[in-house]
Amino acid sequence: MSYDTIFIIGATGYIGGAVLHALLTAYPGKYQYTALVRSEKDFPVLERLGVKCILGSSSTLDVVEQACAEADIVVNAADADGLALAQAVVKGMERRSGEAGVGRVKPILIHTSGTGVVTDKAGGRFTEFARKVWNDASEEDIKSIDPSEPHRDVDLMLFSAHTRDLVNIHIIAPSTIVGVGSGPVRKITQQLPNMVRAAVKHRTTYYVGEGTNVWMNVDIDDLEELYLLVLQKAIIQAGEPNGSPYANFYWGSVNKHCWGDVARQLAPLLFAKGLTDSPEAKSIEPDKEPLLRGTANNSVTKADRAFALGWKPKGKTLEEAIPEDVELTLALG
Ligand SMILES: NC(=O)c1ccc[n+]([C@@H]2O[C@H](COP(=O)([O-])OP(=O)(O)OC[C@H]3O[C@@H](n4cnc5c(N)ncnc54)[C@H](OP(=O)(O)O)[C@@H]3O)[C@@H](O)[C@H]2O)c1
Repeated sequence: MSYDTIFIIGATGYIGGAVLHALLTAYPGKYQYTALVRSEKDFPVLERLGVKCILGSSSTLDVVEQACAEADIVVNAADADGLALAQAVVKGMERRSGEAGVGRVKPILIHTSGTGVVTDKAGGRFTEFARKVWNDASEEDIKSIDPSEPHRDVDLMLFSAHTRDLVNIHIIAPSTIVGVGSGPVRKITQQLPNMVRAAVKHRTTYYVGEGTNVWMNVDIDDLEELYLLVLQKAIIQAGEPNGSPYANFYWGSVNKHCWGDVARQLAPLLFAKGLTDSPEAKSIEPDKEPLLRGTANNSVTKADRAFALGWKPKGKTLEEAIPEDVELTLALG
């Protein structure tokens, strides 16, 4: 019995592409890869890597379900809020499991959520909520996350599916990711580039409110490593009856940053390039600039369960990654 086939959703994206790169590098020739791709223009670059492409998206859930019914392992790195997509993934995988013949392994799903699942509505302030450190090694912490939090409807659906014991399900929830990705198509992250775009748009580097709110960060290369470790663990674990779903939840977070400090580091850099009118960062009212929505709140997590897998992050902190992320953002627009 072995795991032979991997289906990736989001292979053209920043995280999914990096995970694909990690898998191809760590296990050359070991798996057959298929990817769900939304645009045929992206087929050639993936096919050159030996990845079979299937045209589809969350609008073609029957295609998703069928592809998931044919894979031993599914990696979903498309949309942490994509409930219908995630449901179709589970439906296909459970069908495969239900149809299991002799020698068929229990399928494994690695789903991508985000640390935004533990956030507040702080409007750029350090709040009481920010004092709470959500630890993935504490099942109670993971279980007690409020159902109204972002991504949580998808995560709860997956916890419930895991307890049915047809699919072995793991969730990785990354924090702010930094650094240039190694994927074949999109190599750029989200929050920091949006801060740069907002600054260029207004010719002013802004932080939201007081800018005292805090969040965690992780280097994309370290995150790749975590996906590999979780997959290794999953392959061992899938031979047993599924345990608690909350014990299969991992934060992908390492260092803490304060969003006001990030803006203060960014401001002179952008001013020196002639893109803004001042080397000083300034405050903007919450909700005034949609590009800054992802940098307005608090989220503090500790990845002890991930570290217990042997995860040893050694990549850049957000502060160290700022220059390369700025260059890539400006190059791509
Ligand atoms: N980047 C971060 O800092 C970060 C941190 C934590 C969590 N996350 C979450 O992780 C997920 C992936 O993030 P990312 O930065 O890798 O995003 P990304 O670069 O935009 O990649 C998303 C990937 O998923 C595909 N995709 C998006 N929506 C889809 C849909 N409805 N159906 C099928 N495929 C779809 C995209 O296809 P196309 O190439 O056709 O667009 C792309 O391949 C997002 O939900 C994001 O919120 C991101």
